[in-house]
Amino acid sequence: MYTHQDLAQLQAQSLKMQGFIRQQTFSPENEKTLRRFSSWEVAELIFKVNQSTLRGRLAADPTLPQGIVEEDGRQRWYTLEEINTLRRKLRVNRRSLMPPRPAGKRAMRAAIANFKGGAGKSTVALHFAHAAALDGYRVLCVDFDPQATLSHSMGLSDVAEEFTVWGIMARDLGLETARMNAAAQGAESGTTLPQRRLPASVAEMGLTDLRVSDFIKPTNWPTIGLVPSCANAAFVEFASAQYRHMNPEWSFFAAVSRFLDQLPPDAYDLILFDCPPAIGYQSMNAVFAADMLYIPSGPGYWEYDSTTSFIGQLAEALEDLTRFNNGLVPAGTKAFADIRFLLTRFEPNNDLHRAMQQAFVKVFGDRVTEHPIEMTRAVEQSGRFLSSIYEIDYRDMTRETWRRARASFDQAYEEFKTHVADAWDQLEEAA
Ligand SMILES: Nc1ncnc2c1ncn2[C@@H]1O[C@H](COP(=O)(O)OP(=O)(O)OP(=O)(O)O)[C@@H](O)[C@H]1O
Ligand SMILES: [Mg+2]
Repeated sequence: MYTHQDLAQLQAQSLKMQGFIRQQTFSPENEKTLRRFSSWEVAELIFKVNQSTLRGRLAADPTLPQGIVEEDGRQRWYTLEEINTLRRKLRVNRRSLMPPRPAGKRAMRAAIANFKGGAGKSTVALHFAHAAALDGYRVLCVDFDPQATLSHSMGLSDVAEEFTVWGIMARDLGLETARMNAAAQGAESGTTLPQRRLPASVAEMGLTDLRVSDFIKPTNWPTIGLVPSCANAAFVEFASAQYRHMNPEWSFFAAVSRFLDQLPPDAYDLILFDCPPAIGYQSMNAVFAADMLYIPSGPGYWEYDSTTSFIGQLAEALEDLTRFNNGLVPAGTKAFADIRFLLTRFEPNNDLHRAMQQAFVKVFGDRVTEHPIEMTRAVEQSGRFLSSIYEIDYRDMTRETWRRARASFDQAYEEFKTHVADAWDQLEEAA
């Protein structure tokens, strides 16, 4: 017979192994660090200019960051900070190297969601975040999944639950309750509206004293911030139901959206949500905060099946919440600027995969992105080492495998970027 004690014992063993793997992956201080990028990468893959053009510009202006030369090579290697300085200072053929960003608009919010487990959500979120950061964008990631895959991949493994989406929701409950109580007291109707009380467990945490920025942790990438998650955040699903009774007017599906509204509009360019493989309080918070939905799916029949039921359930949940709106969600119908399906783990030479791709296109038309993400050993391998293809040094693996994997993620990202630009056009200017 086995009890929770046996499960706890098995977990303790597993944690020991996890610690060991992390030590092998991260630097001796057990911190994940970001590598430097070679002049070849900076010129051709990041700025998309000729290597000799870049070399010429650097030679002409010694005040520009010059990177470092590694012992065995002739290439120069640059940190992301140096790359960003170059990006700000250089113009090539009168072209700015800065990525497009409409003035006066807040950051674009994209949710990577599907309740199919293992569809590639975290892999897509991680790679889009890194591709966007290399492209010059300032990125905020929000990990809505207590499995915390994205948080671990971004080097955050020691997270207290009050600094997760759960903390954001509980803080919002505190702030909203105080606001409603103040409004009730200020009402001149003569009738005394009931004062809402918070559960002591929430009130005593002091979350309402935290600033928005307290929830955003730095990652191993200097221009990527993260609202992390952790296993304990799974309790939010239980706790939230209880909070509903404490303050029935609290629109808790809008908690994260309200939180993000408090960020200065120009603090970030792109906000990416990694969603859990479930429809629940946390993932619906992601959906309500999102301007765009990106739905990754594997290229198999069962994955197609799950994706179909995901959009069905999402439609139902959104309709119910709008129809029976009793304060749970903001008034009005939730509308997305864009919805896309992205095939992942795609093998171009696999007949079945190609047939599934055609089926997806037949059903969803141009909602299916043109560039699927290919199946690659680089990611299987990087999964074990918790790194994206952008983080892996191309000298550490077969160059062709690296190039191919990188090209696949680059193309998917470039396409995503065009959809982000279109979605930005639809977004109102920030107040
Ligand atoms: N393009 C790819 N090539 C090879 N392996 C991939 C690729 N994309 C994802 N994988 C692998 O598939 C597995 C699941 O991927 P991932 O964790 O991104 O899925 P997920 O949808 O976030 O899962 P969950 O639902 O558990 O959150 C991982 O082991 C990952 O390394
Ligand atoms: Mg995941």
